[in-house]
Amino acid sequence: MGGYYFLGFLLFCSLLCVLASGSSRNLPIIAFDEGYTPLFGDNNLVIHRDGKSVHLTLDERTGSGFVSHDIYLHGYFRASIKLPADYTAGVVVAFYMSNGDMFQKNHDEIDFEFLGNIRGKDWRIQTNVYGNGSTSIGREERYGLWFDPAEDFHQYSILWTDSQIIFYVDDIPIREVKRTEAMGGDFPSKPMTLYATIWDGSDWATNGGKYRVNYKYAPYVAEFSDLILHGCAVDPMEHAAKCDNAQASEAVPSGVTPVQRIRMENFRKKHMTYSYCYDKLRYKVPPSECVINPKEAERLRKFDPVTFGNGRHNAKRHRHHSKASPAETASF
Ligand SMILES: *[C@@H]1O[C@H](CO)[C@@H](O)[C@H](O)[C@H]1NC(C)=O
Repeated sequence: MGGYYFLGFLLFCSLLCVLASGSSRNLPIIAFDEGYTPLFGDNNLVIHRDGKSVHLTLDERTGSGFVSHDIYLHGYFRASIKLPADYTAGVVVAFYMSNGDMFQKNHDEIDFEFLGNIRGKDWRIQTNVYGNGSTSIGREERYGLWFDPAEDFHQYSILWTDSQIIFYVDDIPIREVKRTEAMGGDFPSKPMTLYATIWDGSDWATNGGKYRVNYKYAPYVAEFSDLILHGCAVDPMEHAAKCDNAQASEAVPSGVTPVQRIRMENFRKKHMTYSYCYDKLRYKVPPSECVINPKEAERLRKFDPVTFGNGRHNAKRHRHHSKASPAETASF
């Protein structure tokens, strides 16, 4: 009996340790060819000699991208990414999951989007989630970073389970989307493919399209490495997952730990510049899943009173003039 208790204790302990560290270092890093295939851009996608890193280039001819071989229902997906430096206004680098090719009318999507900027201004990160074609409700958030993402590689991860989606930057959770009943089909629930792309987003990426891509500074090169695909690969015909214990790896985070929650809140306090939950111009009543944090609300209101606050008069004017998300004007 004592032996069992001891084993149980060991198991419990190792579980705790993993949860406490939130680490995912032990997951296998795959070679590009093992998990991915080029999607577009021909020679603008270059696989490094080690087989594990990929360069995606945007120049005046084309952007480029790659896509996972498999489609996944849930899992943990990660890439180390180094973004192009200097003048990158209008450039968009995206690391995302989607099934838009299979479900034109009711697709799901989970997005990390990196929005370039003019020289001297930092890249912005945007996260977003769509479920079952809920494209009329944008659930965007935008953030600055505490480092220059063009200077070095950093890890960007998506954890997607049946009950939540967590976005991570370097193992710090930056956003947690909890599935609520009221969200209904808006929570992504069909298998998706993983994508990485670089493209010309001149019309909206930087200050709502004010600064376009300038090809004088091309080529723009985004580097991807340390690719982790750890999910339930499903048969595209059956649309059903045979996950077994693919999820059970203890290297996969299972949620936000108390320690991580503090770090997440600190991150959001310092670096979040936009959240749909507080956007009074778009949503008179915040979508049902929004949990309004008064401190977040106040901070954003100070930052951009028109979008997030009581800037009523201005707000009206703004709405007539711009179809693009108004907070783009504040995205610097
Ligand atoms: C998803 O959309 C389809 C087609 O619009 C609809 O029939 C289905 O009920 C929706 N599913 C959920 C879970 O909302």
